[in-house]
Amino acid sequence: MALREPAVQRLEGALTDPGFSWTLCMVGEDQSQKFSQLTGELRAPFSRTGDGKRISSGFSYWGVESTVAWVHACSDLFYPVMRESIESFTRRWQRIGTALEGRRYHYVSLGTGTGHKDHAVLERLRRGHPELRYIPVDVSPEMLRLGQREALRNLDIPAGSVVPVQLDFSSARNVLGLRRLVERLVGEEPVVYSLLGNTLANFEDDTALLALLIGQLLRPQDRFMLEVASTEQLDEAGARAAAREYRASPRFGEFVTSAVMQYTDLRIDMDSVSFGAVVEEDRSLLVKVVYRNRTGGQLRLTLPDRSSIEFPDEDTIRLLITRKYSPAGLEKMLADAGAVEVGRTRSGFNAAIGEPGFGMDLVLLQAGPPPAPNGSHRPPAPNPFG
Ligand SMILES: C[S@@+](CC[C@H](N)C(=O)[O-])C[C@H]1O[C@@H](n2cnc3c(N)ncnc32)[C@H](O)[C@@H]1O
Repeated sequence: MALREPAVQRLEGALTDPGFSWTLCMVGEDQSQKFSQLTGELRAPFSRTGDGKRISSGFSYWGVESTVAWVHACSDLFYPVMRESIESFTRRWQRIGTALEGRRYHYVSLGTGTGHKDHAVLERLRRGHPELRYIPVDVSPEMLRLGQREALRNLDIPAGSVVPVQLDFSSARNVLGLRRLVERLVGEEPVVYSLLGNTLANFEDDTALLALLIGQLLRPQDRFMLEVASTEQLDEAGARAAAREYRASPRFGEFVTSAVMQYTDLRIDMDSVSFGAVVEEDRSLLVKVVYRNRTGGQLRLTLPDRSSIEFPDEDTIRLLITRKYSPAGLEKMLADAGAVEVGRTRSGFNAAIGEPGFGMDLVLLQAGPPPAPNGSHRPPAPNPFG
């Protein structure tokens, strides 16, 4: 029998076969380049303050160990940021989702994570929209597979409507490619993009990333759902409480060290992981996590390409940054990124007496006029270890 139809059409049949649990994944970039970026960042010079060697945002989640460690951290009772963000998401989404009623949207999830939130979003968007397309995007293929499975659990969305994409969305080139792909898949029909779970706060230049995503992805008919951690208190005590919140979770500690464990032969000592936080101007509490060589001697680390580097006493590897935004800081970031707010929910997590009020903001955005050139320029972030 001649195989006339294209292979991709036949694939849909294979993917919907109940006995076949494979998933499809489009790979949006050359993984060997990412590999050299990772090793390059670990070769940076000595810094006592976490400003040299680093694991940058996407690499914290990249491999299978990090994915598993992230899933564990999300359910840790001592890591309220993600656990409560996931648990309360459906309620917050129900409220903000009313602003989307009356139109049928496709869904592009930037950074799917465990997939629980995507499940809630899809559950609503697919109603009365049998043509809905779901495009989960993540730098980690393991996270994509796991998140996609959870997102689609018990939802009647055909396999052929789901197009997972492995891609680093912090690269301008990749974002342009993603826009092209989305337009191919949905034409002029509207799309909801999401960047949830305070993912934006992990990027040094968070405003520039948001400006890139809003500016390059959003057409007038599209919407962007952003979730960030927020604080009502922007002072030293708030910063200390924010650092404490992350330090308190052993599972978060495992996650945050998982990339170094995976990509170097460093023997991890959890006492060498430091959590520091500072007030970042009037915009956020900035938390920085570093690994410091406290052995009193020089170590040599082997990198994934088998080269080795010196890791002298007191040198650091920056493992992660994150933030909690003040209301004014969030407003300014949205304006500088060229985003216009069309809906918002604020939720506070139960703070003990004397503890600062931390919470989550879920904001629905549309593209505004492009920001003025250099509108987002700001001085380098202060350093809790500086
Ligand atoms: C903090 S988790 C949030 C997960 C999920 N959105 C939620 O709210 O539960 C960040 C997610 O974004 C992905 N991610 C981080 N940086 C990325 C990048 N530069 N490009 C693509 N995905 C990225 C991670 O793999 C992870 O799945």
